Amino acid sequence: MTSQAIGFLDSGVGGLTVVKEAFKQLPNESFIFIGDQARVPYGPRPMSEVRRFVSQTAAFLVAKDIELLVIACNTATVAALPMLQERLSIPVVGVIEAGSQKAVAVSKSGHIGVIATEGTIKSHAYQQTLTRLRPGVTARGLACPQFVTLVERGAAGLPSTTAKVKRQLRPFKMQSMDTLILGCTHFPI
Ligand code: DGL
Repeated sequence: MTSQAIGFLDSGVGGLTVVKEAFKQLPNESFIFIGDQARVPYGPRPMSEVRRFVSQTAAFLVAKDIELLVIACNTATVAALPMLQERLSIPVVGVIEAGSQKAVAVSKSGHIGVIATEGTIKSHAYQQTLTRLRPGVTARGLACPQFVTLVERGAAGLPSTTAKVKRQLRPFKMQSMDTLILGCTHFPI
């Protein structure tokens, strides 16, 4: 353990799903989390705008003297990971590489589904990463922006939300896939 904290950022509460897992693995570390709820959602915004927001929240965390920055947001990872890795003197990690590594490790058929924000799906970042890690894999993406709004509104787990999630995921029911990536940190909630 060091006296410096690990910083986590997200557009809203979703990043707490990442903090929770990190805390399980590193119970003696300190964590600082910022969720940009004033400007959530990031998913529908132009990448240049997301990059600007992430630069600001990252600067806030760096000013707290963090030792490592985790971009606990898939959309922000797509928009800003290379930029922050280049600009900051501390290590910066995103979430797409780790999620993809896990998916290619557990998928037997190599047919993988990805649900995420519009920004993440449009970027094809998961498809590119999955194919790099395991050539020949098929990755089908589906944007589910409504899930972010439901989580931020505190509606996760309500019967009406379950019905909406089922309806939204219907296109995937007919697909042959054995692994689904929750490619947005709000979705585990
Ligand atoms: N939680 C974020 C992600 O992982 C984005 C949600 C949003 O702001 O649209 O992509």
